[in-house]
Amino acid sequence: MSYDDLREFIDELEKKNLIEHIKEEVNCELEISEITARVCRKYRENSKALFFENVKNNGKISEIPVVTNIFGSTERMKLALGQENFESFGDKFLKFLKFKPSGFFEKLQVLKELNNISSYFPKIVKTGKCKEVIINEDKVDLFKFPILKLWPNDGGRFITLPMVFTKDPETGMRNVGMYRMQVFDKNTTGMHWHIHKDGAEHYRKAEKFNKKLEVAVVIGCEPASMYAATAPLPQNFDEILFAGLLREKAISMVKCETIDMKVPANAEIVLEGYVNPNERRLEGPFGDHTGYYSAIDYYPVFHITCITHKQKPIYAATVTGIPPMEDAYIGKATERLFLPFIKTIIPEIKDINLPIEGVFHNLCIVSINKKYPGHAKKVMFALWGLGQMMFTKIIIVVDADVNVQNIEDVLWVVGSRVEPKRDIITIENAPADALENASEFKFLSSKLGIDATRKWKEEVNKELNLDLAEMSEEVKKKVDEKWNKFGFN
Ligand SMILES: Cc1cc2nc3c(=O)[nH]c(=O)nc-3n(C[C@H](O)[C@H](O)[C@H](O)COP(=O)(O)O)c2cc1C
Repeated sequence: MSYDDLREFIDELEKKNLIEHIKEEVNCELEISEITARVCRKYRENSKALFFENVKNNGKISEIPVVTNIFGSTERMKLALGQENFESFGDKFLKFLKFKPSGFFEKLQVLKELNNISSYFPKIVKTGKCKEVIINEDKVDLFKFPILKLWPNDGGRFITLPMVFTKDPETGMRNVGMYRMQVFDKNTTGMHWHIHKDGAEHYRKAEKFNKKLEVAVVIGCEPASMYAATAPLPQNFDEILFAGLLREKAISMVKCETIDMKVPANAEIVLEGYVNPNERRLEGPFGDHTGYYSAIDYYPVFHITCITHKQKPIYAATVTGIPPMEDAYIGKATERLFLPFIKTIIPEIKDINLPIEGVFHNLCIVSINKKYPGHAKKVMFALWGLGQMMFTKIIIVVDADVNVQNIEDVLWVVGSRVEPKRDIITIENAPADALENASEFKFLSSKLGIDATRKWKEEVNKELNLDLAEMSEEVKKKVDEKWNKFGFN
């Protein structure tokens, strides 16, 4: 199932009773955040999306409703991406990445096999619903939109689910990333792309040429594209094509009014503008995914030249904070979707768990088919060398027969198989996420690797007593036969 826009997705959530309409008056500053955070924490997987119909903004009820928590459960993520099984899609995506036909007939053959994937490429259309209202530069006023303030000490209001469109100044290749944006005044915001991200790379290049970087920001559209903006895709892989592959239907794209950029034609709200070279402003603090306020720092400034939107747009937002919040389910979908990709590079990996409470990529538990002494350490370094997995602070490696999704099983092998002096490694001054709040230096942190695999004799220089105390099959069978007579329920 694919949706033409955010409304169609919301309609589907309504049909399935997965969204709650709130008619009570609520303020876009702090109140929506408190309600959403309570719902996420109390109901977790069973939480619903929240549609706030009467949102107070600057003392008046806004004409624009606010929706939060649309991605906040596994069920809603599956509906959003049109995928029953994320890993199978990951396999299909890999096939696409490896797709290098040499001749025309081979290409035709492979295309057929891949379900005629070429029809999922973005489609350019002349106009779209996102152009129903056009606000020119002199009339732009972000405070007319019910943009949320999440936490009391936040630096201001933040756009929390933006899809940020930029083009590589050298190659013209598009990137779409999700980077929060602090509203500075009625027509400027912060641009919080971390130095490791593709948006920041485009900006670095623009600065090198001393040129403005054009930027379009989409707030709310069909959900596969919104998710794609968060996905750790290989650099130069188009997020909009990825969304088309997910939903098995091309995304219709329309040209912006004031910049040379195309955006989804049925987006709710589009901000057009640019970021000047060498212009920075203090951004933050902001109550973030980690559960802590992220530090104030200098970030580029986004200047708005035009806003276009639907006649009756919906403002989409997410609330970040102490986990579990909505982004946990986005992260879990990523974990599953990209596991097949990780496995092609590190084939000994059986499974991975980035526990929600471990601030997602900060803690990674991985099971491996161990094949040689020291293998766990090889896997740690391979993971730290893999794209955004470089942000992982702690990696725990276990054997393939340990279920990484069961924290009790993991704790048992960590407690029973780890000899700290031998099985723990630390690295200093490795790359860290910009949100890292425990490390000494900005953008740098140490890393901890814990080898909780069974140690081979080559690794310990003696036979270890690691025979499991397990009952014989004969006795188990005998007890099975009598079990019902014992009166246990
Ligand atoms: C709700 C949400 C907010 C995010 N905010 C930021 C942010 O402010 N800055 C940032 O660099 N990454 C942020 N991310 C993570 C990026 O979206 C993610 O790393 C993405 O893969 C970046 O895309 P890129 O590799 O094309 O730059 C956020 C993710 C989510 C789900």
